Amino acid sequence: MLEVSNLCSGYGEVQVLHDLNFDIGNEVFAVLGANGAGKTTLLKTLAKLLPVRTGRMSWHGDDVTAAPPYELTGMGVAYVPQEGNVFPRLSVAENLSLGALVGNRPKEQRLEEIYALFPRLAERKDQSAGSLSGGEGQMLAVGRALMQEPEIILLDEPSAGLAPLYVDVLFETIAEARRAKGVIIVLAEQNAVKTLEIADRVLVLSLGRMLMLKDAKHLSMKELMQAYHI
Ligand SMILES: Nc1ncnc2c1ncn2[C@@H]1O[C@H](COP(=O)(O)OP(=O)(O)OP(=O)(O)O)[C@@H](O)[C@H]1O
Ligand SMILES: [Mg+2]
Repeated sequence: MLEVSNLCSGYGEVQVLHDLNFDIGNEVFAVLGANGAGKTTLLKTLAKLLPVRTGRMSWHGDDVTAAPPYELTGMGVAYVPQEGNVFPRLSVAENLSLGALVGNRPKEQRLEEIYALFPRLAERKDQSAGSLSGGEGQMLAVGRALMQEPEIILLDEPSAGLAPLYVDVLFETIAEARRAKGVIIVLAEQNAVKTLEIADRVLVLSLGRMLMLKDAKHLSMKELMQAYHI
């Protein structure tokens, strides 16, 4: 569905991603790699927040290489950045409602579905997003993305900085979103062990290049340690 060929991207003079080739189907597609491997750069490029330098990107067969970010949003692509992914002064309900600016179904109906999926958010709907715990904040960011009723969510390191207990809850949240909504998930992560539990396929990046692309169940710890230069 999402096809990337010979993709190169970066910032100003600095080229970060080199010649990436892959396609993403109806699956949980994980992007693993050490700090600085290029995970965030890849997700930003897929969300069109960074321009494709060379190469091509298509979504459902439409060439979106030069499409602006809002066009991708309208085509069912939701992006959850690594940081700053909720509006701290707005309430939980207000944050979720922003997601309803995209799509046609009534907001109230969508809110009810998200609250049913994540009861923790329902309990805190009038609380400001800034007063949530780190894990609840990430849950809200995922919830807002789901409010857009996307076909695909690009999730950048949702578990970064979370205590282990919250990491477990968060990964359950992601798995539940996948089960309940059938949404395609592209998950950039440092937490390889948890990611392998929910991923179908794994792309491992090293210094902006593809080190491997494999079924999650065929990826050995030895290969992973190699990717992380351990
Ligand atoms: N705004 C920027 N300008 C120049 N270089 C950048 C910029 N942002 C990132 N980089 C560089 O791009 C490379 C990849 O960074 P990126 O943020 O994509 O890595 P990452 O895999 O997401 O790492 P982390 O796990 O730490 O989030 C790094 O070498 C980084 O220094
Ligand atoms: Mg990153």
